[in-house]
Amino acid sequence: MKKTTFKENFLWGGAIAANQAEGAWDVDGKGVSVPDICTGGKFGQSKLITPVMDKEKYFYPSHEGIQHFYRFKEDIKLFAEMGFKTFRFSINWTRIFPNGDEEEPNEAGLKHYDEVIDECLKYGIEPLITISHYEAPFGLTKKCNAWVSRDMIGYYLNYCRTLFTRYKGKVRYWLTFNEINSATEPIGAILGQGILNDLKNPTPFMEQPDLPEQRYQALHHQLIASALAVKLAKEISSENQVGNMQIYAGSYPLTPNPADVLLNQQYNQMKNYLCSDIQVKGKYPYYFETFLQKEGIELIKEPGDDDILMEGKIDFISLSYYVSSCQSTDPSIGVGEGNIMGGANNPYLEASEWGWQIDPKGLRIALNDLYDRYQIPLMVVENGLGAKDELEKDGTIQDDYRIDYLRKHIEQMALAVEDGVDLMGYTTWGCIDLVSATTGEYAKRYGFIYVERYDDGTGDFSRRKKKSFEWYKEVIVSNGLCL
Ligand code: BG6
Repeated sequence: MKKTTFKENFLWGGAIAANQAEGAWDVDGKGVSVPDICTGGKFGQSKLITPVMDKEKYFYPSHEGIQHFYRFKEDIKLFAEMGFKTFRFSINWTRIFPNGDEEEPNEAGLKHYDEVIDECLKYGIEPLITISHYEAPFGLTKKCNAWVSRDMIGYYLNYCRTLFTRYKGKVRYWLTFNEINSATEPIGAILGQGILNDLKNPTPFMEQPDLPEQRYQALHHQLIASALAVKLAKEISSENQVGNMQIYAGSYPLTPNPADVLLNQQYNQMKNYLCSDIQVKGKYPYYFETFLQKEGIELIKEPGDDDILMEGKIDFISLSYYVSSCQSTDPSIGVGEGNIMGGANNPYLEASEWGWQIDPKGLRIALNDLYDRYQIPLMVVENGLGAKDELEKDGTIQDDYRIDYLRKHIEQMALAVEDGVDLMGYTTWGCIDLVSATTGEYAKRYGFIYVERYDDGTGDFSRRKKKSFEWYKEVIVSNGLCL
């Protein structure tokens, strides 16, 4: 009989983020987060950032999300029915510190997460918490342009201390920042760093003025904050395991032309290795120092920063994996649709309805690549297919394409484990349909659970199991054998 390749305690599960699922954006003292001022719409076209909220004119999908704030018990029960071993979710910073800079936390916000965590534990589901998932407090953007300011480190650590203390003995797995390496792209400044350089005008998502020197300075502050959070987590409980969370943007040279190969190597350094090099090895890599010099960027560091990075190394690497792309020195070849980290389309791959190229083998490559470089445990905490699901007349959702996507990725993950990679777990993205981060749409669905909510504002938020629900349940119960 074939034996499973995954560990006995492999952490199968699913992932969501607060701002994309909770709704209740202003309930129980919650403050405004940057996503709360982002309107719904299509990426690069009408998704707007409106520093002054205008609810008459615009639709703000984070305000209602999928009502997970009110329905978390129903949702977690469904996850338990699928056999989840872990549930990755984020805590909305502004539920705990509404403006971001208060000294004392908002008790009502903490009470909400007490209940969410207890509900997970009731079913034996291990909470995996993202401390900051594209949810910077807007109050801090207005106060100091968020992570541009070094003051953010103190605010973030106060937030971390509150969480680590409150959930000691209940939560063991923490991720400091979602997709921290998104800071290498302008989109990361807004989503990950809460930086808004135009606070007057509603601007399309990608048209906020971008200053690379600001982004890299903000990244330095985040890396210091992350390292200090690792130390703090350990001081508060020796059980705590802290990981980073980064995009792995699979990448190949478009041709064997050595110029393309070199470009691909440089791409990997700056996009895929930069943050993990710092967070695993505890220091800035040589290629980044050179990059900063060439760009004329001088990071402002404080004495002791180097020691902080060295003393706050992460326990494991967690990654999101959706797409891969190709690097080409040919200027006539443009960037493919959906490649937020840049790169041309790969002629051998098909794409999702949103233009994200699908590359299951790339996941095996990614896992081997990271494990080879760092030799610490890995966890895939986001992977999945955003698709337009059809609700059939009989109430079913036949999402065979999603099953196919996930099956192929899990097969490659299993092969990576057979290659010798130490893999801790796998949480699919959007295990329940939620609002898309890049487009603000409900139509881009990832879940095993369909949510009746549509972009025209209709739908009563009721939940339905898709075909993939039963499939994933089998995957988990067989520990990855029945695909
Ligand atoms: C990741 C983010 O980049 O991709 C998630 O961590 C996001 O928040 C996911 O939802 C999928 O992207 P999108 O735009 O399809 O929601």
